[in-house]
Amino acid sequence: MPEIILIAAIAQTNGVIGDRGKLPWSIPEDLKRFRQLTLHHTVIMGRKTWEFDLQKRPLPQRRNIIISSQKCQADGVEFVRSLSQAFDSADPKLFVIGGASIYRQALDFVDRMELTIVEGDYSGDVFFLEWRDRLSEFELIQIEQRDKYRFETYVRSEKTLAWRWAIDGLYS
Ligand SMILES: NC(=O)c1ccc[n+]([C@@H]2O[C@H](COP(=O)([O-])OP(=O)(O)OC[C@H]3O[C@@H](n4cnc5c(N)ncnc54)[C@H](OP(=O)(O)O)[C@@H]3O)[C@@H](O)[C@H]2O)c1
Repeated sequence: MPEIILIAAIAQTNGVIGDRGKLPWSIPEDLKRFRQLTLHHTVIMGRKTWEFDLQKRPLPQRRNIIISSQKCQADGVEFVRSLSQAFDSADPKLFVIGGASIYRQALDFVDRMELTIVEGDYSGDVFFLEWRDRLSEFELIQIEQRDKYRFETYVRSEKTLAWRWAIDGLYS
């Protein structure tokens, strides 16, 4: 089974992640970290992130999978119709890179979260707050504080992992 990793930058105060199809901030180190973590792996995103954030340009040196209900085609990317189709992969690591609708649906399956918590007030039109409601399922294993933002790594706790394995066993 691949490791499923949710990677997101989130405003601490209100959970904003996007503003008119773009990130509400410019943090070069965050983009660098995103590239380092995802390079040579598979990235999974929603159609809006592909269209507005990436401007329909695939992330280089990564397998790009886009989820859409529409019949789409583009060079250098793969379109699938559902999250489960995107997760049906032999790749060792699958990075869920947004946006909010995909993050929400992925939360049940995520093994690790690589979050950039952006401090300060930001306005926007897309929010992802649900991760906070699920924190009891995860352990915070690393924090790297920077000026006005921090990197936090969460892994699904042993307890919830064991529970998931048991459920998987029941239905396999
Ligand atoms: N801060 C961050 O780390 C970060 C990261 C990524 C994106 N963002 C921001 O997030 C915003 C976009 O997020 P969003 O929630 O509006 O859009 P999104 O999740 O990027 O894309 C939504 C689209 O994905 C498709 N989709 C979602 N679930 C599906 C399913 N179960 N089956 C089939 N298709 C499905 C649908 O496409 P169709 O309509 O084609 O069916 C849907 O309209 C942007 O502002 C972007 O900048 C922020």
